[in-house]
Amino acid sequence: MMRVSGLLRLVALLVTLLAVWLFLRSSFSLSTKTIRLPRWLGSAHKEIRVPKSKCGLSKPCPANFFAFKICSGAANVVGPSMCFENQILMSPVKNNVGRGLNIALVNGTTGQVLRMNSFDMYMGDPNSLLKFLAEISEGTLVLVASYDDPGTKMNDEIRKLFAGLGSSYAKQLGFRDSWVFLGAKDLRSKSPFEQFLKNNPETNKYEGWPELLELEGCVPQKIF
Ligand SMILES: *[C@@H]1O[C@H](CO)[C@@H](O)[C@H](O)[C@H]1NC(C)=O
Repeated sequence: MMRVSGLLRLVALLVTLLAVWLFLRSSFSLSTKTIRLPRWLGSAHKEIRVPKSKCGLSKPCPANFFAFKICSGAANVVGPSMCFENQILMSPVKNNVGRGLNIALVNGTTGQVLRMNSFDMYMGDPNSLLKFLAEISEGTLVLVASYDDPGTKMNDEIRKLFAGLGSSYAKQLGFRDSWVFLGAKDLRSKSPFEQFLKNNPETNKYEGWPELLELEGCVPQKIF
């Protein structure tokens, strides 16, 4: 009798531990999308699917659209990040972002990543950015995220090239402004994908910088 109740207690303990493990796993799993219950638990082989959109978008993009999310840097502390079709292109973890302007070029038809670069707009040579922008070919998507200071070395030639990609705010981009933008080389109108916050001591979230910006959406694939 003692042995049976001891066994029952052990089983009860194991079941409790399993329940706690499953609960924790489903609450805290960020990377795993599928919760698979052991086959012997429940009659059928059940799977609970938690739908997750590309780049963590609140709604998935329709077919023939690319999902993207761009975050500017936070003050001069946390670097910016860019996601395209569920792929992190640039981020502090990837260690390929820097102060100034961070730019990724993507083929607008295939979604293939073409180039990624960071341009120091405080100390750097603005001609390298000018050259980079001038060489962008038709049908290229351009993703931009600011970090710390995108404005000090900004000049009219660069502003004009960004305006040509569909930017409305590049013309007023200045010292320590926050800016996130997605444009395209052959855009004939203004891009709907842009956010801008002026560095203003009256409204700044951080002492010397405005709040970081987040831009997400679905950009139509260019079909030739
Ligand atoms: C995009 O990829 C297609 C197919 O490979 C190619 O024909 C086109 O030239 C590329 N465009 C750009 C802007 O890279």
